[in-house]
Amino acid sequence: MTTILGISAFYHDSAACLVRDGEIIAAAQEERFTRVKHDHNFPLLAARYCLKEAGLTAEQLDFVGFYDKPLLKFDRLLETYLDYAPSGFRSFLKSMPLWMKEKLWMPDLIRTEMAKANGIDDERAAKKAGKKFEWKLLFGDHHESHAASAFYPSPFEEAAILTIDGVGEWATSSIGIGKGNEITLLKELRFPDSLGLLYSAFTYYAGFKVNSGEYKIMGLAPYGEPKYAALIKDKLAEVRDDGSIRMNHEYFSYSQGLRMTNRAFDRIFEGPPRRSESKITQREMDLARSIQVITEEAMLKMAAHAHKETEIKKLCMAGGVALNCVANGRLLREGPFDDIWIQPAAGDAGGALGIALAIWHRYLGKPRTSPEKAGTWVNGTGGAGGPRRGSLAGVLVPPVNYAPDARAITVQGYADGMKGSYLGPQNSVSEIEAFLQTSNAPYKKYSREQLPEVVAQFLSEGKIIGLHQGRMEFGPRALGARSIIGDPRSSEMQSVMNLKIKYRESFRPFAPSVLREHVADWFELDYDSPYMMLVADVAAERRRQMSDEEKGLFGISKLNIKRSEIPAVTHVDYSARIQTVRRDTNPLYWEIIEAFRQKTGCPVIVNTSFNVRGEPIVCTPEDSYRCFMRTEMDYLVLETCVLDKKDQPEIAEKTDWRNEFKLD
Ligand SMILES: [Fe+2]
Repeated sequence: MTTILGISAFYHDSAACLVRDGEIIAAAQEERFTRVKHDHNFPLLAARYCLKEAGLTAEQLDFVGFYDKPLLKFDRLLETYLDYAPSGFRSFLKSMPLWMKEKLWMPDLIRTEMAKANGIDDERAAKKAGKKFEWKLLFGDHHESHAASAFYPSPFEEAAILTIDGVGEWATSSIGIGKGNEITLLKELRFPDSLGLLYSAFTYYAGFKVNSGEYKIMGLAPYGEPKYAALIKDKLAEVRDDGSIRMNHEYFSYSQGLRMTNRAFDRIFEGPPRRSESKITQREMDLARSIQVITEEAMLKMAAHAHKETEIKKLCMAGGVALNCVANGRLLREGPFDDIWIQPAAGDAGGALGIALAIWHRYLGKPRTSPEKAGTWVNGTGGAGGPRRGSLAGVLVPPVNYAPDARAITVQGYADGMKGSYLGPQNSVSEIEAFLQTSNAPYKKYSREQLPEVVAQFLSEGKIIGLHQGRMEFGPRALGARSIIGDPRSSEMQSVMNLKIKYRESFRPFAPSVLREHVADWFELDYDSPYMMLVADVAAERRRQMSDEEKGLFGISKLNIKRSEIPAVTHVDYSARIQTVRRDTNPLYWEIIEAFRQKTGCPVIVNTSFNVRGEPIVCTPEDSYRCFMRTEMDYLVLETCVLDKKDQPEIAEKTDWRNEFKLD
């Protein structure tokens, strides 16, 4: 038996992942345990959880892998600072002590932290104990870790690989090939030219937090017009035919400063960056649309180039920019690839998983039997070439045995290695009951068989429900294990959920969870999107025609128009960020939606992450109960225990909890 712990840390979204004999046993982000969003510290608690899930202590590990190479990154920082000296001196001084302390002495630090994960709290004792570990410590390249996270868990035997993010050591995008257990990276785009940093520069300029508010830009884009796209391409970033971009660094300051953009940037867009929390205007919407359009163009071109270089019809993706599900949806519809699989933890958290799998397959040379090669089709329509897009509609599929307890079925009916990304902690009913009893929280316990019907009834009455069941998701999306759910047919649901539950801007759309069997009847998509990584339009026959007066509306005033039969999940341009749900991947979630469909004829529900604005997604029953009590949710489902808000005692909090979380 070989056990490997993968770690990503010290940039943003620290995470740990445990792989045993090539199987992903556990993976989680540190933020879920520390309750600090995008926590970048060593993932002590996540590592501790992973060890516990595997029944191991830190001594018993064979390998520990770190997702990038700190010395190479240091080399890039130093060189960049020297290039721009003395203008970047302030940020140089600010970041160097951290580098010296944490990053350059990484091997020692990792050993000490692993001793702490083992339960030794005292720093000196941990340092001493850390030196005695016999496991081998290995470092991967940042983009190789992303590439490994994209390819190894994918269902494909052979695929083109595309990784796109802000920056790792030097690379900002890479193109490669995965075949069997081998990954070969063919090309890379290097810092400071970076599609991810270009997008982040606009996130910053529009007044949102970098490395966290990017998805708001994507959500805001449909309200705007691409007014600035030509200007951006003319002045800021040339998009070449191969998808590489060349940026004009006169307008950016991320190489030398703490800001992303500079005064020259302000001049061409005629004003300073929007102040965080100030009113969002049409200008931000137009900027968002403009940068989104350019990102889509670059991604489509990059993908076309990757296809040309590899001549393979399947694509795997990872890196923060692969979370741009609007671009991904276009890639599936318009791109050269027949099949696309995207790592759900596409950002740096997924690097922990990538390095662990890379040690198993690349370093140790262990073979990889892809589901595609093993022929584990699940719907009986496999064979030469396999079923094409659309062939799975209406087919209920039996479970498949890929890895020992694999439950995930993704692209075109192939199992992948991610187990639905349900890789985090789970709570037993007895544990939950003990917590509820000590908290004096009244609840009603149902049988597992009764539960879907009970929850579906609440949904059909317009109630909003916190759903905490099964293992917590790995990656930024809630996929029905730690989700808030509601009825998408209600025209008020979007604003109620935004304002009374999430306490956030009203422009943000919600995502639908839809039964895989029915997705094509409700959306312009007939493809697996288990990780909410694809955006497609609501089906034409489900849309509502707008009056001429409504068509003439601009910007945010479009928000309150009922656009379809499922307005709560229909964006202003009719698009939706879709999660398809299969029974074998998440049985309870599937059964809840199916029970709702039987009641209402609608196989779609609203799914938003179980948290309030700025808070990491809930992890424990305590987190869920606290969030439930602080918001206007009607019911809380903790496995088979159901709590009605009306029955709960008042909880008195000394301070305003809204100040607890930094806004993103
Ligand atoms: Fe990255």
